[in-house]
Amino acid sequence: MKLSKSQIIITGGGTGIGKQIALSFALAGASNIGILGRREDVLLSAQKFILAAPHAPELQVSYAVADTADRASLDNAFNKMHDRFGNLDILVANAGYCNNPMSILDADTDNWWNHLEVNVRGTFNTTRAFMPFSRSEEVDGKTSSKATILNISSGVGHLPATEQLQGMSAYAVSKIAAAKMIEYLGSEVPGLRVVNVQPGAIVSDMGSLDERSFLYDDRMFEACPWFYL
Ligand SMILES: NC(=O)c1ccc[n+]([C@@H]2O[C@H](COP(=O)([O-])OP(=O)(O)OC[C@H]3O[C@@H](n4cnc5c(N)ncnc54)[C@H](OP(=O)(O)O)[C@@H]3O)[C@@H](O)[C@H]2O)c1
Repeated sequence: MKLSKSQIIITGGGTGIGKQIALSFALAGASNIGILGRREDVLLSAQKFILAAPHAPELQVSYAVADTADRASLDNAFNKMHDRFGNLDILVANAGYCNNPMSILDADTDNWWNHLEVNVRGTFNTTRAFMPFSRSEEVDGKTSSKATILNISSGVGHLPATEQLQGMSAYAVSKIAAAKMIEYLGSEVPGLRVVNVQPGAIVSDMGSLDERSFLYDDRMFEACPWFYL
């Protein structure tokens, strides 16, 4: 993929996998990377971290504070990125939520449901806010998207509900629902490329909540090589 003229936006780009994906794009020669999240101090620190790595001379890393639950804040953030970078090429829908494991019968209802709010509704909001600012072209008098959406999915959404994964129902339901939504989006928007990416088990703020260390066969990579390639 030619990245030198690509405008890339990553939600949840201030921490964990999102920050490493941003770093991977920078190492691969991207010129414009926007990172979104709710905490400005975290985004600022990630911006410095990414710019400290070897990168293309023209690289710009911008950040915008946005909550994926709040469509207005997303619209402001994408507007800001569009003003700065022009039409947007790649969205990495990475922001997500996973709380401590809880059984369906013992779970606090609001906490269980919050997984769907962040991982499904948040991803829904993010893709809808991104599309009006994304690159498209006219083909035979019809508008065709030239954008790509990478949704950071999870293997947990696809694995059987074995004893080892007990308590992960809210997360599993939300991640498989979001993956299906992205698949449908790709079928509904001509030209749009969509990919659901399962990153593997990665130690992060979210990942570390789960003490079942057998899950973590990877340490956090210096960058995400599967993204870099
Ligand atoms: N770690 C793993 O093993 C693993 C495995 C499979 C899939 N994943 C997926 O990978 C993605 C990243 O997770 P991670 O492991 O890197 O954990 P993480 O470091 O906790 O990342 C979550 C990111 O999402 C952002 N976020 C959460 N709620 C948000 C909201 N309402 N609006 C905007 N941003 C929000 C957070 O930033 P703020 O708090 O500053 O908003 C944070 O940067 C998630 O989608 C997760 O489901 C992780």
